[in-house]
Amino acid sequence: MSADEHDVERDAHSGTQTTGHEWDGIKELDTPLPRWWLWVFYASVAWSVVYMIFMPAWPALPGLAGETDHTRGLRDHSERANVAQAMEELQASRAGGYAALEGASIQEIENDPDLLGFVRAAGEAAFGDNCATCHGSGAQGAPGYPNLNDDVWLWGGTYGDIRTTLRVGIRAEHPDTRFSQMPSFGRDDLLTGSEIADVTDYVLSLSGRGEASDDVIARGREIYDIQCASCHMEDGSGDPMQGAPNLADRNWLYGSQRQQVIGIIHRGPYGVMPAWEGRLDEATIDALAAYVYLLGGGEEEGAANRLTGR
Ligand code: HEC
Ligand code: HEC
Repeated sequence: MSADEHDVERDAHSGTQTTGHEWDGIKELDTPLPRWWLWVFYASVAWSVVYMIFMPAWPALPGLAGETDHTRGLRDHSERANVAQAMEELQASRAGGYAALEGASIQEIENDPDLLGFVRAAGEAAFGDNCATCHGSGAQGAPGYPNLNDDVWLWGGTYGDIRTTLRVGIRAEHPDTRFSQMPSFGRDDLLTGSEIADVTDYVLSLSGRGEASDDVIARGREIYDIQCASCHMEDGSGDPMQGAPNLADRNWLYGSQRQQVIGIIHRGPYGVMPAWEGRLDEATIDALAAYVYLLGGGEEEGAANRLTGR
């Protein structure tokens, strides 16, 4: 009988060997690891050694591993280099599309399936990167941020108009930016609270939402003709030259509730859209403008504005 066997104590219940440790009469069993587990463990140790030889793994002192601060491994693999290469390939694959886009009219784009497909792909990607934060991923907009899917345009909806809007921005830091400013009628005491209420009721009546009495509407109209018609036009149809919205339709940039309209007239809105010239190259701006145009609401060059009839 060897000393080992002599010392071995087995748990009467499970037959498993004990470690010899004992606390308050409870003995610790020495259950061996399952065989499959051990083999997985050994295999992963072996794999990690192979991996370290072939792939980047260890931090290294500057100079020891060439340009990088880690060992490169035999495969000289670099995610960063892969991304850079993929970007280069993407740019190269798009270069033809961008070149074809240059100077193309929107009709030419619409009639050329290759160009159309290119605009959809490149435009959608650039839109997701640069525009979706404000206009929504589906370009559906939000209060203060116009929906770009519809045919309602503040500053005009031809391909050229949209391109200009993108290039120079709206109330942006660009010398030629599109600019206009509605006065803050309440905050600057240009109108009293009750005058603002009256003109609001008149504005709501333009889209058939007047619950106010004829008296109120008449008073509101008087104020409107003096204070508002120069920008929003006498019939409320708006003015794309000044970015003044149509007030006679059912489309509201800042909200349709009476209280919201009162708030807007009180403070005067000041929507800012960044200028993209200098931030995006011309080709990307063209692709984006065509993309937005093709979202559905683009207006034909020279045709009367569908909305304002002008
Ligand atoms: C920081 C927020 C912001 C970002 C980013 C932004 N926009 Fe805008 N955009 C606005 C606002 C606000 C307006 C409305 C300005 C106004 O009230 O006149 C607007 C207006 C527009 C208009 C004019 C719509 C009309 O009815 O005339 C177009 C077109 C447009 N944006 C396209 C884009 C595209 C394309 C991008 C991405 C390159 C983009 N926007 C990025 C905020 C933004
Ligand atoms: C100097 C031109 C100008 C004048 C005068 C003016 N507006 Fe405006 N108004 C604008 C512009 C521009 C916008 C859009 C601004 C923006 O988006 O930042 C606007 C927006 C609005 C809106 C928001 C519309 C929406 O779709 O949410 C309302 C309502 C409005 N104006 C009512 C009035 C009323 C009522 C008056 C007269 C008391 C008036 N405005 C006078 C230029 C003007």
